[in-house]
Amino acid sequence: MANILRSQSWFDSREYYSFARRSTLRAQGLTRGITEGKPVIGICNTASDLNPCNRHLTQIAEAVKRGVWAAGGFPAEFPVISLGEMFLKPTAMLYRNLMSMDVEEMIRANPIDAVVLLGGCDKTIPALLMGAASANVPAIVVPGGPMLSGTFRGAALGSGTDGRKHFDMYRAGQLNDGDMEELECSIARSQGHCMVMGTASSMALIAEALGMTLPDAAAWPAVDARRFAIAEASGTRAVAMATTGPTPAQVMTPDAFHNAITALMAAGASTNAVVHLLAIAGRLGVPLTLDDFEAVSNRSPLLLDLKPHGRFLMEDFAYAGGAATLLQILLPLLKPNAITIGGNTLGDQLAQHRAHPQQVIRALDNPLDADGGIKVLRGNLAPDGALIKTSAASPALQNTRGRAIVFDSKDDMLAKVNDESFDVQPDSVLVLRNAGPHGAPGFPEWGHMPLPKSLMARGVTDVVRISDARMSGTSFGTVVLHISPESAIGGPLAAVRDGDQIELNVPDRRLTLHVPADQIEARLASRNQPTPHYTRGYGKLFLDHVEQAHLGCDFDFLKAK
Ligand code: FES
Repeated sequence: MANILRSQSWFDSREYYSFARRSTLRAQGLTRGITEGKPVIGICNTASDLNPCNRHLTQIAEAVKRGVWAAGGFPAEFPVISLGEMFLKPTAMLYRNLMSMDVEEMIRANPIDAVVLLGGCDKTIPALLMGAASANVPAIVVPGGPMLSGTFRGAALGSGTDGRKHFDMYRAGQLNDGDMEELECSIARSQGHCMVMGTASSMALIAEALGMTLPDAAAWPAVDARRFAIAEASGTRAVAMATTGPTPAQVMTPDAFHNAITALMAAGASTNAVVHLLAIAGRLGVPLTLDDFEAVSNRSPLLLDLKPHGRFLMEDFAYAGGAATLLQILLPLLKPNAITIGGNTLGDQLAQHRAHPQQVIRALDNPLDADGGIKVLRGNLAPDGALIKTSAASPALQNTRGRAIVFDSKDDMLAKVNDESFDVQPDSVLVLRNAGPHGAPGFPEWGHMPLPKSLMARGVTDVVRISDARMSGTSFGTVVLHISPESAIGGPLAAVRDGDQIELNVPDRRLTLHVPADQIEARLASRNQPTPHYTRGYGKLFLDHVEQAHLGCDFDFLKAK
């Protein structure tokens, strides 16, 4: 049965303010026929000149509006905070929760019957989903889409992934300033977000696997006509959802999270997506822990041959059938009865998808790897967990033991890795601390420490790196991340000293500091508590309420009771 429109309580009562609100619509030249009784479809737009990945969403919003008008709704575009990964300091992650609060409150406070969420760059889709989950008004995501594939001297270039590889060649003197200028233009050819399976692509895929987008929404390039067609269709669908739902809580169920994690593992997607999924689930009261990721990872094969671990780029993924084809292949491992925003089940939706032969998405019986690309580590260095993206790590370094070299800050680390006389061995373990939610602050992507120049000169291409930071989804290497609890609040990472032996054992999922427990305790007891980075404003709110990585880094007061 259709629900009464939420917006009626703003416009349809006999009180003064309904009259006054209607008159403000008349002030724009809108006639009663165009507004009266129509579902109001909010278009929550993260377009911003300060967020190049999302700048084109203004054009996407126009396509959504067409769909809303055509279906008999009234579109109302509104801005929210936008988080540009490249520009924001100290890190966009510091502001994810702030953006989610903006989204939640603007949906709840306005006469919105359903909302279309426009996002792209890394933190924007997570914050949109978190806010929409808390507001629980019918919502549909339209991802902004990736950039077109980069290309440089005949080779495919993936943003982040190949940028870092070529920058290391520049650091090693193999490329000059002119080469880098050519690369700068070759790697980013169009509007859109990073076009490897980084965090933005991962979150678009996850939104589709959660059932929060129309089918086939994740992969089309930002500038592809089909991206605009999906936006238009999403506007049309939102009009129906205004009266019939489903709401985000009805879509994002435990089954939907199972499907999203399965897609994440099969894609070898970003470790950042783990933190974001934990946070979204927390908003809905869906119980989700790192153990759920580990369990799904153990039975989900790696199927997607995309950079940073594979050969192809998001444009190739789109032409190969995109998320719909990946999910169709994964169907035996999914919960097919999960409801989608289309109103049908994921299983029904996928039954209508037509796949065709391609080489980007492997079959279940021909995977790139037998299990998922992200593993959860535990041990005396990470009592609450840590992550490693094995699909992007060197197999030879996944069961190793070496001497710790500790950096207390990013500046310290950068100075050492760029020092050609830095004393480091191929089996050393680089340790960065004070890089978590409290320590950095804001949980930045410092975990992918650049290779030391002194190792690069010896032809070494990877080294074990561990930290309480995150890393970009576009990064690669044997990098242990998200160590929880973090060092700044007294996690055991704070006890490591230069020369300690650290063992990384991915097959057993262990991360061990080979120092006796009483010595670790004594070292932690004697440490100085770092001075808080903020004493006022949003920064203080963040430090007072942010949770640790294994809980999703949301604010404690924003989680569902
Ligand atoms: Fe925006 Fe990579 S910088 S998605």
